[in-house]
Amino acid sequence: MEAGVEKKTAISPKSKKRPRRKREVPPTEVGDIEDISFSKDETLQIRASLLEWYDKNQRDLPWRTMSGGLDERDKRGYAVWVSEVMLQQTRVSTVIDYFKRWMNKWPTLHHLAQASLEEVNEMWAGLGYYRRVRFLLQGAKEVVEGGGRFPETVSDLRKIKGIGEYTAGAIASIAFRKAVPVVDGNVVRVISRLKTISANPKDAATVKSFWKLAGQLVDPCRPGDFNQALMELGATLCSLSNPGCAACPISAQCHVLSLSGENELVHVTDYPTKVVKAKQRHEFSAVSVVEILNCQETMGPQSSSKYILVKRPNKGLLAGLWEFPSVLLEKEADLTSRRKAVDNYLQSSFNLDLKESARIVSRENIGECVHVFSHIRLKMYVELLVLHAKGNRSIDYKRQDKESITWKYVDNENLGNMGLTSGVRKVYTMVQKHKQTEQSTIPGRRRKTAVRR
Ligand code: ADE
Repeated sequence: MEAGVEKKTAISPKSKKRPRRKREVPPTEVGDIEDISFSKDETLQIRASLLEWYDKNQRDLPWRTMSGGLDERDKRGYAVWVSEVMLQQTRVSTVIDYFKRWMNKWPTLHHLAQASLEEVNEMWAGLGYYRRVRFLLQGAKEVVEGGGRFPETVSDLRKIKGIGEYTAGAIASIAFRKAVPVVDGNVVRVISRLKTISANPKDAATVKSFWKLAGQLVDPCRPGDFNQALMELGATLCSLSNPGCAACPISAQCHVLSLSGENELVHVTDYPTKVVKAKQRHEFSAVSVVEILNCQETMGPQSSSKYILVKRPNKGLLAGLWEFPSVLLEKEADLTSRRKAVDNYLQSSFNLDLKESARIVSRENIGECVHVFSHIRLKMYVELLVLHAKGNRSIDYKRQDKESITWKYVDNENLGNMGLTSGVRKVYTMVQKHKQTEQSTIPGRRRKTAVRR
């Protein structure tokens, strides 16, 4: 445990005449957090008040009201699993539509187990962190292959690919009424305020203590409701920067609220301690949106233009997802260097020599956009490269070295309907906007040969 960051839970009245500097309130001691616990009375009051509040105020969410037929038990487990994985990605209001679409397509675990990675990636598009959905699919296959009965204890759930402590706790308590806790960011916020815990909430030992404390609180008769109530309180009233303490059902048990009434230097929002995030890595890439005009091999008779999409490698960031051709740059680069890098990439990866096998209809610098992943800040320089096959030659992209790449042509309509990652969608939107501006300002411009900067 980090020295000097935990605070004592015992709250001693402080003199208002000599307010101490903020960092010193209240005094800190090493090892305190392990000694913190909820008394029996506190626990009973918190359970009763929180459940009463939840019964009146819980949000109407599709995974809470799902009922099935004979297989209701398995369906509940499946619905909670899907919803909880989605909820780890984004806010509740966004998850609702994703969840409904998902359940429409794969109403049971057995349906999901038949899906392809491509399909689930597409359905997940925009939620981010695609590793989670890959694991969800793998997990579904594992359960079905193991006989299809949904595991219901934390230890059995933990054996499934991609199910960690949080998801196992959520499924076991919400779907199967097991009296086990869940701890997410909202729970950490509520508990750290209830108990004035200022230890670094990301620290492993502190995390363990939050699990212990949440385990003390969980209601043995209604564990799922209690866990959801605690998370919901954190997501709504006990918010990060604007807590609604006046309406909070457990304000009477909140140590930091009572402390803030005694000492003006203490604020509810001081808890939990804000952790300085690790610095993001800065990366730069040149993205070339390659549009092929009117090419017989690629179009068929109805011919309109098509775009090249490349599949990312099956390992690493955004594994197996489609994107426009791009090259990672070593650092920020000017237009000439970027084009050189793209030309080399097209030549080496697609055997596409821009001078030999294609006619450049236009090559335009569209602009830049930044896409932020949890640990990477990627600046993308975007160009639109419009090509036409030269003479009778096809644009025949074949990688010559051993490492093959997977790519495909997609037309405008399919591209618009495809599940694309947020980063790719950003780029595509930039290109669409650019084209619209071009069309409205310079009619007929796009079909001419032009190399604009
Ligand atoms: N946040 C994550 N999962 C939740 C749930 N089941 N209920 C309320 N908030 C949540």
